[in-house]
Amino acid sequence: MQNSCLVCEEKDNILIIKLNRPDKLNALNVSILKELNSVLDNYAENKNIKVILITGSGEKAFAAGADIDEISKLTIIDAKSFSEYGQGVFHKIENFSKPVIALINGYAFGGGFELALACHIRLCSENAKMGLPELNLGLIPGYGGTQRLPRKINSGRALYYILSGEQMDSAEAYRMGIVSNVYSSMNLFENGLELAKRIAEKSVDAVAFSLKAVISSENTTMSEGLSIESSLFSLCIGTENFIEGTSAFNEKRKPVFNKSNKE
Ligand code: COA
Repeated sequence: MQNSCLVCEEKDNILIIKLNRPDKLNALNVSILKELNSVLDNYAENKNIKVILITGSGEKAFAAGADIDEISKLTIIDAKSFSEYGQGVFHKIENFSKPVIALINGYAFGGGFELALACHIRLCSENAKMGLPELNLGLIPGYGGTQRLPRKINSGRALYYILSGEQMDSAEAYRMGIVSNVYSSMNLFENGLELAKRIAEKSVDAVAFSLKAVISSENTTMSEGLSIESSLFSLCIGTENFIEGTSAFNEKRKPVFNKSNKE
């Protein structure tokens, strides 16, 4: 599927979404967010697609932020819905029933970093640079950065990056647990695809329930979270994939999940 600001490609059971405004370092304008929103809606129930990868076109950037040209024209009233719209799209990603992996192939600033923070897993290239430089524009992050970054690295560290506008490099992002792995620019995509393929072979039920349990842990008490976990654990037992997984173990063979999941 080809849109003006997004390029989407289906490869096996994986959907690759490329943010495609390389001349503007893939800055996120409203059109790109709307396209992303409708791609997510279109693929939510698509049983062939099991994992989504998001990356940036070109060699320099994942996304260098929300589009500053658009922001500079906002009124106070527009700004609230502008922020809420982006928050809504990123909330949809965070709560998506299929894993969404950000491949951060360069700059991920402002809205670009907030998009990556909403994804379930982040991998980056060695030359990646991340940060929330909105204060340099007299703004604060508006697409979830003030909420997701402190939940990932604690509020003191999040405020350090937000208030100073300092960029973090790939080594620092890895050290703080923001990215799960760092690869050379040349190998980032290949490694992201490899991870996506590995996940796509697992039980779609167990993958979706893992996402639900882990994402809910950010908003629940321990006892609520444990209750969600045991409910989802018991739902696994009723799936064909559980029967396949345990049968394969007993028969000493590799499981073949999702047999009745083909469209
Ligand atoms: N919104 C709109 N356009 C952007 C943009 C953004 N967030 N980030 C980059 N661009 C555009 C530039 O205006 C430039 O367009 P032009 O060629 O028409 O002038 C083009 O992308 C290339 O950017 P440039 O600044 O020339 O590249 P660089 O390699 O010198 O610097 C950055 C890269 C990322 C350091 C720099 O572009 C930057 O600081 N961008 C803004 C980051 C930011 O503040 N993000 C938060 C926004 S809320």
